[in-house]
Amino acid sequence: MDSELEAIRQSVVECTNCDLCKTRTNAVPGKGNFQSDVIFVGEAPGRNEDQRGEPFVGIAGKRLEQALESAGINRDSVYITNVVKCRPPNNRVPSVAERDTCKEYLQKEISIIKPKVICVLGNTAFNSVLGGAEITKFRGKVVRKDNQIYFLTVHPAATIYNQELIGVLESDIAKLFETIRELKNNRQVKIDIEYDS
Ligand code: URA
Repeated sequence: MDSELEAIRQSVVECTNCDLCKTRTNAVPGKGNFQSDVIFVGEAPGRNEDQRGEPFVGIAGKRLEQALESAGINRDSVYITNVVKCRPPNNRVPSVAERDTCKEYLQKEISIIKPKVICVLGNTAFNSVLGGAEITKFRGKVVRKDNQIYFLTVHPAATIYNQELIGVLESDIAKLFETIRELKNNRQVKIDIEYDS
């Protein structure tokens, strides 16, 4: 693993910057290929992730993995992380204060990995990373902000309650990797939304 990422991993594991450290079993640093073209950003760890100290290892993780596989992508080839690195009690949505406190870790992960695309999974990540809302209206879109490309899609956990979203997630992930291929080939990518900084 990259030594800078290892240092962040260690800081996350030992972090006591907010009260979530009092209720967690394990902090959950990002995991995966530090040379990945894409970082997937979820909301916060759930019960399984808290137990194992790894992101997206429960049912939502299975759904993400299946969507990646349907696009011919192995999960180990990408980097997966969350806005908030510790499980909020009862899986509540992390507060704005918790998200702000944890923000530095995600910013560092991004600055080390320098992904071609940041894939935003669901509303909390959309709100935290881009200040957006209503991901279902904007999913499937390519966003540019401060020269960084983002891709928006639904949270994999949403597919558990709404089966129709399985196909949506799969087609979005296929579009995401098509976009990455185009960027790698220096082809023009259609930007759906330009965000002001
Ligand atoms: N949901 C998330 O947002 N992140 C995880 O790691 C697991 C479930």
